Amino acid sequence: MAQLKRSIMAVLPLVLMLIVSLTPSEATDFLVGGKENSWQVPSSPSEFNRWAQKNRFKVGDYLVWKEDAKSDWVLEVTRQGYETCNTSNPVRSYSDGSTRVKLDRSGPFFFISGVKGHCEKGQKLEVVVLSEDHHRKSEAPSPAPANSTAPTPAHSGGNALLRDDVMIVVGLFIKGFMLGHLF
Ligand SMILES: *[C@@H]1O[C@H](CO)[C@@H](O)[C@H](O)[C@H]1NC(C)=O
Ligand SMILES: *[C@@H]1O[C@H](CO)[C@@H](O)[C@H](O)[C@H]1NC(C)=O
Repeated sequence: MAQLKRSIMAVLPLVLMLIVSLTPSEATDFLVGGKENSWQVPSSPSEFNRWAQKNRFKVGDYLVWKEDAKSDWVLEVTRQGYETCNTSNPVRSYSDGSTRVKLDRSGPFFFISGVKGHCEKGQKLEVVVLSEDHHRKSEAPSPAPANSTAPTPAHSGGNALLRDDVMIVVGLFIKGFMLGHLF
């Protein structure tokens, strides 16, 4: 019986870990540049993108700008607007010093300073939001048939599939543990 108890204690953390990995993660607020008042001409040109590359953005997260001085503002632009630093036709413009932008889809988002000349000096940001498929693949690799004609699962189905996978693993563990083969 003591043996059984010890086995349960050994398995419990694993099961809890699996359950935690199942719960949908909360939306995250990302403070652009990592701190307040950082939306300025950076000391090195790719500073904002280096910050972005250190983070993992997912659909539903927010980008946040907190600036005391309202001398600068944030323009969301197209890729072309980003590359040419064109401030004349933004997708959206934010100028109240406290800006919160929802990353409501996967793919790239582009932001530049609204102040003429600042974007050219590196005050620009590209954020790539991971798709749910990417998210799923990176956490639960499942070998796909080499030449499957089966339709790919819809985005919303991703979590349900992951759940099934994990339930099977948990089931196997419990079965193995009951049979005394595992421990
Ligand atoms: C900036 O964008 C506007 C509108 O899309 C366009 O008319 C203008 O020619 C562009 N300017 C530059 C310098 O690319
Ligand atoms: C995949 O399957 C299709 C239809 O069955 C076939 O025509 C095609 O040659 C296959 N491709 C490969 C890479 O096996």
